[in-house]
Amino acid sequence: MSNPESPAITYGSYLKVDELLALQQPRSDEHDEILFIVIHQVYELWFKELLHETDRVMDLLRQDMGDRAQHTLKRILTILKVLVAQVDILETMTPLEFLTFRNRLAAASGFQSDQFRQFEFVLGAKSRAAIDRFGEGTRARTALEARWNAATLWDAFLHYLRREGYDIPSEQLTRDVTMPVEASPQVQEILIDVYQNDPRNGELCERLVDLDEGVQEWRYRHVKMVERTIGRKPGTGGSSGAAYLASTVGKPAFPDLWEIRASL
Ligand code: HEM
Repeated sequence: MSNPESPAITYGSYLKVDELLALQQPRSDEHDEILFIVIHQVYELWFKELLHETDRVMDLLRQDMGDRAQHTLKRILTILKVLVAQVDILETMTPLEFLTFRNRLAAASGFQSDQFRQFEFVLGAKSRAAIDRFGEGTRARTALEARWNAATLWDAFLHYLRREGYDIPSEQLTRDVTMPVEASPQVQEILIDVYQNDPRNGELCERLVDLDEGVQEWRYRHVKMVERTIGRKPGTGGSSGAAYLASTVGKPAFPDLWEIRASL
């Protein structure tokens, strides 16, 4: 029975469509600025979902549910494919079209995306400088601080492997989670054993490689988009632009999983 005091839920009220459509506020009358805003907002929504799903993978690993973790990793990978494919849309914007409104962005840049940094933190690439960009008490800083102190996906995976019976060195299990994930010859030996004798967990390793490769793919497509749109100009965020971005491509999140390939 409908309750007059709480109106029936509709598509628009459930999804907050009015609010959503009010969130695109261009700073110019240039046609392409709406595309630029929409695509960034869509990315931020997917980043939100990626973080939500990555937290789930870590929870599932902590509960020793490797198969369920794999299932969720597949969802993450599918989202990453969409993120990479979306670059094509923005690449329909020519350098001249971007220039019609670029100066309106002032110092704003994807460089300041706290959710992207959160995702990097979860994958083990943490940086104090990324946190210090945000004021005390802001949503972004609070979220980044929490992820700074939290174990990374790689840590959750190593603890899971330990409980699966693998002799992960204790210094890996008690490592300082704020530090970058470093390659470890002992972990690599264990991973080779997993690949050769434990197909179930070997598949899980492959999904982590997919994730790592997916992020690198996004970085590569992003830098190419930047090169074709602004060439060697510096970024609005103050970096050297394409040269800085190129330096981030090809750095693996999980180095051990890449190191072992030649030994398999
Ligand atoms: C015309 C399109 C774009 C251009 C020209 C562009 C340009 C740049 C540049 C030059 C940087 C380096 C930092 C700086 O100095 O500003 C950067 C960083 C970044 N951009 Fe873009 N960008 C574009 C589209 C996008 C889109 C659609 C996203 C999606 C969210 C995005 C996300 C990021 C992120 C996350 C970073 C930080 C990367 C890192 O530090 O590793 N960008 N962008």
